[in-house]
Amino acid sequence: MILCTTIDELRAYIRAYRTEHPDALVGLVPTMGYLHEGHASLIRRSAAECGLTVVSLFVNPLQFGPGEDFDRYPRDPERDAALSAAAGADVLFMPSVEEMYPRASATRVLVSGVTERLCGASRPGHFDGVGTVVSKLFHIVLPDRAYFGMKDAQQVAVIVTMTEDLNFPIEIVPCETVREADGLAMSSRNVYLSEQERREAVVLSQALSRADGWLREGLDASETTARVREHIGSAPLADIDYVDVLRFPELTEPAPGERLAPGQRWIAAVAVRFGRTRLIDNRIFSGDEVAAHV
Ligand code: PAF
Repeated sequence: MILCTTIDELRAYIRAYRTEHPDALVGLVPTMGYLHEGHASLIRRSAAECGLTVVSLFVNPLQFGPGEDFDRYPRDPERDAALSAAAGADVLFMPSVEEMYPRASATRVLVSGVTERLCGASRPGHFDGVGTVVSKLFHIVLPDRAYFGMKDAQQVAVIVTMTEDLNFPIEIVPCETVREADGLAMSSRNVYLSEQERREAVVLSQALSRADGWLREGLDASETTARVREHIGSAPLADIDYVDVLRFPELTEPAPGERLAPGQRWIAAVAVRFGRTRLIDNRIFSGDEVAAHV
């Protein structure tokens, strides 16, 4: 695996690779580092499908709001390099903030609609930062495929929308959330949790699994939301930011009394604070599967 810290050296390397291997695919796995098994699974998938896998590691200041955890976001570039290489990355792109934003950037990529609810509502400006940095990475790497984890399902919806709207010739590959043995979705931020917070954090995935049963029983979106809230609220340290059940990938609200029907997909998505740590998780339900169980 080679390490590139500048855009010029990364572009030169990819250009040379494409000249030598004109039919090979280039895969991109964008990350903010502090990699875990979830990231490793994206890198392995790209390495299995593409001739060249580029992992980007950049803690993007543009997607953090005032008072959020940009400064204390966990960083361990040496461990990340070892994990990336072991998972099959060919290139690790680790630019500085100055390399990515040499001047106050006057341009933003704003995606509307799918950013209105969930993290788009509770972290204003977050997806403007994500859209902007991901489109910069797309322009820099010019990959054929880009791999994203479904733990950030709204991010996937934003990036798919942006890719289609801006005609990026890139296939977005959503990959399943990787979980700890007790169900907690893997996240770089899990490292912040105290022992008790870590024990209680399992309520997120539990509540989302139960939502599956509630939707199969025929509860509507608001009844399911209330039950998910109640379950998460049973953990004394859980401070709910949002719980929502929406159509996926549109992220719009189902009508009152409407039931998940064949041909539809709904998402139950949650964001919950434990102390200073904000965790997100989600689960997607297919109306076809619900119908098969009635
Ligand atoms: O999911 C992340 O880690 C980040 O939002 C991403 C896609 C790397 C953009 O900074």
